[in-house]
Amino acid sequence: MKIPQHIAIIMDGNGRWAKKRGFQRQSGHARGAYVADNVAHMCSDHGIKYLTLYAFSTENWKRPQTEINFLFNLTLSYLKSRLPEMKKEGVRFRFLGRINDLPPKLREFCDFIETETFDCEKLTVIIALNYGGRAEIVDAVNKIIEKNDGRVDEKSFKDFLYLPDVPYPDLIIRTSGEERLSNFLIWQGAYSELYFADKLWPDFTHEDFELALKSFDKRQRKYGAVI
Ligand code: IPE
Ligand code: IPE
Ligand code: MG
Repeated sequence: MKIPQHIAIIMDGNGRWAKKRGFQRQSGHARGAYVADNVAHMCSDHGIKYLTLYAFSTENWKRPQTEINFLFNLTLSYLKSRLPEMKKEGVRFRFLGRINDLPPKLREFCDFIETETFDCEKLTVIIALNYGGRAEIVDAVNKIIEKNDGRVDEKSFKDFLYLPDVPYPDLIIRTSGEERLSNFLIWQGAYSELYFADKLWPDFTHEDFELALKSFDKRQRKYGAVI
């Protein structure tokens, strides 16, 4: 079976999952963090090298402040509690997005966990936090202007993205039945295979993950050529 080197996931449907059960949206996010953790293990077991998780978009600031605070606290406390074990399992953490605009406690923890896991090599988990594809492109353009070093092409433009060394995602999965990118990896995903699952993220299982991999295995990537 063809295994993607990099999977990126739009973990959508936490709120609907909670609503269906008469719970607060927050409980959907909490369950969602647990599922993300499980999926990281599945990636590791399959020898997938990069997993990018869309945790908070630049547009998610439009949500109620209580939900935003909950999401940031959840990210921080979950990562904190899982760090020792993840480190043992060889998971390197990296962050993608306008990290400097996050609350200082979270920002500092992102720096800490990146340094702590720098040497881990089995799987890189990239958490997209305060991430927007358009913001990333605008930030890249401004870096280019500041550098004032002439024109760029597609190859050199990549060097100005947030994580230039990370290969583009082979497969982008979105849960919850929505079929859009919502500003996720719009440069990097230009030739990614897309997979939409109807399951809400907190309900996403090992079997659902295997179905996505099976679907990827059947795709023929042509990049515009005749094959
Ligand atoms: C995705 O679930 C998680 C984040 C955006 C942080 P949602 O919170 O968007 O859940 P729905 O789409 O309202 O069901
Ligand atoms: C995308 O989901 C962002 C994350 C999963 C973090 P949203 O729920 O915010 O996207 P829209 O609003 O449905 O497009
Ligand atoms: Mg949503």
